[in-house]
Amino acid sequence: MSISKIASIEKRLQIKRLVGATRIVAPIIESDVVKGLTQTPKSLPPRYFYDDFGSELFEKICELPEYYLTRTETAILQQYAHEIAKITGACELVELGSGSSTKTRILLNAYNQLGYPLRYLPIDVSAGILESSAKQLLADYPSLQIDAIAGTYELALAQLLPTQLPSRMICFIGSSLGNLKPHECDMFFSQITDALQVGEYFLLGVDLQKPKQILEPAYNDSQGVTAAFNLNMLNHLNRQFQGNFDTTEFKHWAFYNETEQQIEMHLRSLRSQTVELQSLNITINFAPDETILTEISRKFDLNNLQQQLTTRGLVPIKAWTDSNQWFGLLLCQLQA
Ligand code: AVI
Repeated sequence: MSISKIASIEKRLQIKRLVGATRIVAPIIESDVVKGLTQTPKSLPPRYFYDDFGSELFEKICELPEYYLTRTETAILQQYAHEIAKITGACELVELGSGSSTKTRILLNAYNQLGYPLRYLPIDVSAGILESSAKQLLADYPSLQIDAIAGTYELALAQLLPTQLPSRMICFIGSSLGNLKPHECDMFFSQITDALQVGEYFLLGVDLQKPKQILEPAYNDSQGVTAAFNLNMLNHLNRQFQGNFDTTEFKHWAFYNETEQQIEMHLRSLRSQTVELQSLNITINFAPDETILTEISRKFDLNNLQQQLTTRGLVPIKAWTDSNQWFGLLLCQLQA
């Protein structure tokens, strides 16, 4: 890459690291782990999936034949991005959990084709991923301006400055909403409404309810990538908290809970065992077959979700889905 191109990229990129703030919340984050592993039934926060290796495994999951979510949402975006851009007009794109920003390119292309200025604010906990994907985007879109924030959604949303474009759209795609428990979902919607001005937009991608014959293989793939992703959480905890989990003594277990309409991912202890997390000063006892719930992935009913959003002032103005109705994309507007 030429020196002038590198200089232009540096000029168009700002990364704000909410590092100090992360230190403040560290004790709360650690207490989540202590609480989750000492209660019955045991559970762990899904954010522990995403160390560098876990993030790589997640990228692989998105390409698995059984994991229809990413492919289906991408196809919907490809079909309707132009329509979305026409509805919102020129607008700043804020993306929560931007990761590699692959699907964002579809939106950027649509705004670009309509001649709108391109401003992108990716938000992700991983500063490394933010920086590498931002630089790639800036190299590919010469008029793009990126203001990235490395931090949690909550902290980053509270720090958003007023947009310099006529409007703003917060994008939360990839069905990550499904990984929030109902009360977390409520808090999250409040954070979204606080971060938007009346008339601004919220783009939400969600996985929809469907037969378990389709859902369960998506979380039990034949290559074992999801199993490795689930077990990697234990390696991450070992590193972070000086632990001695033996990943060969646990097994991946995922199933669709039809009553709760959610996939549940667990790690099942293969025998009676004791594990220590030294820096947290805890010893955890496992009975044979005892499980740790590592993730829920809720599957939504589009009508119910639209009603729920409307009561929060996030009024759906258009909903799109695929021909199987497996995945939904909702464009909402904040109303007074
Ligand atoms: C990130 N999230 C939307 C994924 C999901 O499908 O709930 C995480 C995942 N877990 C296992 N496979 C993918």
